[in-house]
Amino acid sequence: MIDIQAIRQQFPILQQNENGHPLVYLDSAATAQKPVCVIDAITRYYREQNANVHRGVYGLSERATELYEGARETLRAFINAASTREIVFVRGATEAINLVAHSLGRLLQPGDEIIISEMEHHSNIVPWQMLRDEKGIVLKVLPMNDQGELMLEALDGLLTERTRLVSVVHMSNALGTINPVAEIVTKAHAAGAKVLLDGAQAVPHMPVDVQALGCDFYVLSGHKMYGPTGIGVLYAKEALLEQMPPWQGGGDMIYSVTFEQTEYNVLPYKFEAGTPHIAGAIGLAEAARWMMAVGREAIFDHESTLLAYATERLRTIEGLRIIGTASKKGGVISFIVEGAHPHDMATLMDQDGVAVRASHHCAMPVMQHFNLPATVRASLGVYNTQRDIDRLIASVQEAKEMLL
Ligand SMILES: Cc1ncc(COP(=O)(O)O)c(C=O)c1O
Repeated sequence: MIDIQAIRQQFPILQQNENGHPLVYLDSAATAQKPVCVIDAITRYYREQNANVHRGVYGLSERATELYEGARETLRAFINAASTREIVFVRGATEAINLVAHSLGRLLQPGDEIIISEMEHHSNIVPWQMLRDEKGIVLKVLPMNDQGELMLEALDGLLTERTRLVSVVHMSNALGTINPVAEIVTKAHAAGAKVLLDGAQAVPHMPVDVQALGCDFYVLSGHKMYGPTGIGVLYAKEALLEQMPPWQGGGDMIYSVTFEQTEYNVLPYKFEAGTPHIAGAIGLAEAARWMMAVGREAIFDHESTLLAYATERLRTIEGLRIIGTASKKGGVISFIVEGAHPHDMATLMDQDGVAVRASHHCAMPVMQHFNLPATVRASLGVYNTQRDIDRLIASVQEAKEMLL
């Protein structure tokens, strides 16, 4: 069981008012708020520990290096990767996918195939389209049904001997759907394809074990899991990273350089050119430790209870339609109110101190599927309470009455 009040006290931002009301923050899918231990870890680093990593022989630099590499070990444990060589620090999920598209992409041949799904975030669509246009690969799309569930039976028909990669979202940011990723991995591997899982939304809400999932790549963003912005992780199996060429060149990713040739550094440094986001990695590791201390099962259970409560209450509002009714969902609830534009709804709700997002959620094909320009999205964090949901409901009702 989670002591929700003790948790809330660790988030300074939740103590403030917005438009004269205590803030109800329901936009954690966009970015989660930060507990004080994460804020302190970053501040402490800059106040007491700041030095560049890896090359310094003085104490301060050695300690900064220990902190940075310690952060890598924490993230390894957090997702149960086999080795720290499989943990590449990047700017976020977007950069992680771009890294794979650039690097693995160089190994692909025209006519090779990549499968994505209809519910991807733009960051798991556009890099592959760019690769398609550059290299002549074939991009296929696994469809979803009207509940917002992937039509897994269609995957068999899409997989061929030319399929090199299946790249799908673990949990949808627009619909909340938790996809059957282990099954997708099994099917893809049986066809000889690799699998990338976009875990930007899954990691904040549930335990993730990359070895149990069996995926080849897993990407996450620090800021969505209570850590800082500008830092994330690309997990990739070591053997794959060994085969893949570096994507950015510069300091740290080399072993030796002459004008004739460069010898690349060992993993994971081959993929980390330039001075890394040291404070970000330290803050991210603190967020991972914090989540592990709270307990990821407990986080999932707490948010599932809230999600069920919110779904039940929202369903009682006439004219409100929930978009995304998959049987397995995480703490995201998208909806529309017939006749009211989502942006107007969210603007009015802000006046009540209720922060929700109204947008296409960087998943325009999802909106196209449902023939909508946008939805209102309330997304949960571990700090949300039943009272927050009650405020959400009251605010939706008020906004609806004003608009209709
Ligand atoms: C499912 C999903 N994938 C990828 C991303 C991109 O994450 P970032 O902007 O942190 O790189 C997001 C962000 O909303 C997301 O929800």
